[in-house]
Amino acid sequence: MPDAASVRAHFPALAGGFAFLDNAGGSQLPHSVIDAMTDYLRHSYAQLGASYPASVRAKQVVDGAHALLAEFVNAGPTGGIVLAASSTALVHLLANAYSEILQPGDEVIVAETNHEGDATPWYRLERCGVKVVNWPLDPETLDCPLATLQGLLNARTRVVAFPHVSNLTGQIAPVREICDLVRQAGAVSVCDGVAYAPHRAIDVQDYGCDFYFYSAYKVFGPHLGVLFGRHAAFAPLTGPNHVFIPRTSFPGKWEPGGVNHEGCAGILGLRPYFETLAGEPWAGHGTVRRAYAAIEALEQAPHARLHAWFAGRSDLRLIGPAHFEPARSVGIVSFCHKRRKAVEIAEAINARGFGMKHGHFYSFRLVRALGLDPEDGVARISLAHYNTVEEIDRLTAALMEVLAD
Ligand SMILES: Cc1ncc(COP(=O)(O)O)c(C=O)c1O
Repeated sequence: MPDAASVRAHFPALAGGFAFLDNAGGSQLPHSVIDAMTDYLRHSYAQLGASYPASVRAKQVVDGAHALLAEFVNAGPTGGIVLAASSTALVHLLANAYSEILQPGDEVIVAETNHEGDATPWYRLERCGVKVVNWPLDPETLDCPLATLQGLLNARTRVVAFPHVSNLTGQIAPVREICDLVRQAGAVSVCDGVAYAPHRAIDVQDYGCDFYFYSAYKVFGPHLGVLFGRHAAFAPLTGPNHVFIPRTSFPGKWEPGGVNHEGCAGILGLRPYFETLAGEPWAGHGTVRRAYAAIEALEQAPHARLHAWFAGRSDLRLIGPAHFEPARSVGIVSFCHKRRKAVEIAEAINARGFGMKHGHFYSFRLVRALGLDPEDGVARISLAHYNTVEEIDRLTAALMEVLAD
């Protein structure tokens, strides 16, 4: 297992000692990703599809990134990868494709714990007569209960959109059970893995989901949205790319224009970093699993330290489950203070050499359902595997200072 110091040495942005605690917003890049992108821009920056060397290399990079990401999520033979500028863009692509086949009266269920990126695109289907149904959160547990979903699913349900992890509470949803229920109802599952992907290995075959997406820029990579879809789930839909491209052309029909080539190079640059974390040469999804075992082990102590500190503070309201269960949560801690606004806390902490944020973090419906002021929202600390116990101790000392007066 690599230790925190050896892991941190891979990330040039961490060299100055600045404590990045807004990792659910965006993570830092290891050298291997930065180098792969720079190298691509220097030597292979060409349009795809020609026979000259730079074009051939460019195609290898773009195809290679799709193939690597398929291994990353354990797609196996079941499905493939579509890339876009962001996760939000991908869900809009998907919802637009559904707008062509859904009938008035068809239903789409949207979890209240969703980031708006997996909500707005579906709510826009109301303009086609689709009924968009809220899957409400339980204000006690702060998750969307399975029993509630069971009551909402019916013969008209076509799609269920939900997060694997809430980007505010850090709570892990029972994705397998949700996908089972959705499949039994004859509907399609769309799982937002954005807040999960930096912390645990994704296994789309194990979940049995139809669509699963995440943002590479929160997983130590470039600004790209990554969508896995089962071939069978894509089959009834038509991607938006040019009319002369056959609808069966995959992923071409789903990637309008070109994808971000240098971003694809950055994705390939993640491979050596994951090999280092796993302590082995690349062996497909097994290496991904072992790399994430290291990530999980590294995250454990700082995350537990943070929760232990919060447990002793009666002036702070944690926006999460009442009882901290490490196996059911990732390193995201959101909170409100009795008197101080979240903006004041975040700004005072940032002025002391930390990077954190406040707001609704686009989990607008969740913040509203909890009766919080969406403008101010919550203060959020979100960890990556390169954060340390020492950073948490520095942070909690700063919090005590800020909250003292
Ligand atoms: C849980 C979650 N889902 C979706 C998104 C949207 O991702 P993107 O910025 O790639 O559109 C975010 C971004 O913060 C997120 O945290």
